[in-house]
Amino acid sequence: MLLQPIKWEKDSIVFIDQTELPVSLKYIRCRDIDTLCEAIVKLRVRGAPLIGVSVALGYALAAMNSKTKTLQGLKKDLKAAATRLKKTRPTAVNLFWAIKRMEDSFSRALFKAKPCTVAVQGLALNRIKEDVLKEALSILKEDMEMCRSIGKNGARLIKNGDIVLTHCNAGMLATAGYGTALSIFYEAKKQGKRFKVYADETRPLMQGSRLTMWELMKNGIDATLICDDMAASTIRDKGVRKIIVGADRIARNGDAANKIGTYGLAVLAKHHRIPFYVAAPSSTIDRNIETGADIPIEERKREELLYVGSKQTAPIKAKVFNPAFDVTPNELITGIITESGIYENKKLRRI
Ligand code: MRU
Repeated sequence: MLLQPIKWEKDSIVFIDQTELPVSLKYIRCRDIDTLCEAIVKLRVRGAPLIGVSVALGYALAAMNSKTKTLQGLKKDLKAAATRLKKTRPTAVNLFWAIKRMEDSFSRALFKAKPCTVAVQGLALNRIKEDVLKEALSILKEDMEMCRSIGKNGARLIKNGDIVLTHCNAGMLATAGYGTALSIFYEAKKQGKRFKVYADETRPLMQGSRLTMWELMKNGIDATLICDDMAASTIRDKGVRKIIVGADRIARNGDAANKIGTYGLAVLAKHHRIPFYVAAPSSTIDRNIETGADIPIEERKREELLYVGSKQTAPIKAKVFNPAFDVTPNELITGIITESGIYENKKLRRI
């Protein structure tokens, strides 16, 4: 079952509210970027590739909503929209990659429109808005295609009888469709392979139990939920043979940021001599930074650790450290699975 967590429909963005899963599958129709920014900050829309797609559509939405009658006015409105969207979450580079693509597409459209007389500015504005929307829809389509290819490339790593562990949600819900790490499972199943998956719960926001378990079960994958603390003994006692996760930003040297807890899993993989793979589209690679030390790590609200749902589970004045991501050094990563192939650790620079 292919899920489409986001789409463009009747001049608005429609997305699944992921905070409501797995209890209910609800969609939000978003007509302004305030609603979109709130949704990204609150993780209604989440996962690096999906954040990229959503801000691209958000940029197009801001163009459509702009009431200005001049090219300069549209430029100003879109600059303000981009600035707002960029402030939502710092770690997933897909967000900044998508905004840059949208800004480049706007500049190209603007260049084509100039010079034009005041009389035809209205027409030019409409054409620019159409071009910008077309670019956002291409980003969405390309994301689906990249995920599909990641699945096909990665499926050859799955052997009959395999037991694989994954963390957080790098599935359909984290992308425009198919997923990254989970796309590999969907493709392997399609190829008739038999394998089992262990899914980490992924504290504090439970993307593993709420989202990964939900979508794996919907797609008939043999999946078992564990809480994060069970990973070490599950790897040892249940014979986990490989770990496959997603990523939010990969540096040029192959260091990879992903959901907090990923680094610990990579250390466990090394101890147990099992391979550790990262699956991600090329939009997750940040060619502007050399190592993971330059990846900005989001720190989230203390309340995420003080409460489970509405139940208080720690002293209210407890000191809290709540990083949403960690960086796994390249030497712990066996390979990176992208849409163009699997890159072994020592060849990462070829990506
Ligand atoms: O905070 P989230 O839920 O946006 O974090 C998501 C992850 O860490 C995913 O593993 C990552 O974005 C890869 S998604 C294909």
